[in-house]
Amino acid sequence: MIRPLNFIGLIHILALLATGCGQSSEQARLDRVHDLMTDKMEPAVEGIWDSAGWIVTEEGEEELWPTTDEGWQRVIESAEKVAEAARALQTSRYAASEDDWNEIADGLIGAANRAKRAAADRDKQELFDAGGHLYRVCVACHQRYMTEDHEVTVPEDAS
Ligand code: HEC
Repeated sequence: MIRPLNFIGLIHILALLATGCGQSSEQARLDRVHDLMTDKMEPAVEGIWDSAGWIVTEEGEEELWPTTDEGWQRVIESAEKVAEAARALQTSRYAASEDDWNEIADGLIGAANRAKRAAADRDKQELFDAGGHLYRVCVACHQRYMTEDHEVTVPEDAS
């Protein structure tokens, strides 16, 4: 038979376990998000960002857009991978519990599809704009959901 005191003690222990579990599973989720970002998201989106715009070299301005069908095809595949990673973010393995998370991920899928269409159309300006669109969605989610450890520190003289 369980005496009342012991029973209450047991509840406390269970509550503590639940809290501990909650924290570590949230941390585990963030760790999975982190790995998805660095292993999949970033390499994929760089396949778009590195293929639109200009860089300034000693010889002058150089265009980054692809010049071959294979090059454009790689951009299309990069956009598909970004959309794939964004869809993964919406699964229980990665998603936060707030609705905003899935909405922002939807925004990323939309921006990735826009980049894919632009590459299929060989539309340089539109691909460039889609790259900016993608970037703004990444930032929107990071501002909302990145924990403090990842926040950019403001240099002292800027405050
Ligand atoms: C739906 C939300 C969401 C979207 C969209 C998103 N991210 Fe993230 N990203 C996160 C979260 C949350 C973290 C922090 C994970 C952690 O705590 O380690 C993160 C972390 C990262 C990191 C690791 C940063 C670090 O300091 O370790 C990189 C790189 C990154 N994201 C790239 C991107 C890029 C590029 C895009 C857009 C193409 C993007 N992310 C879109 C939620 C998102």
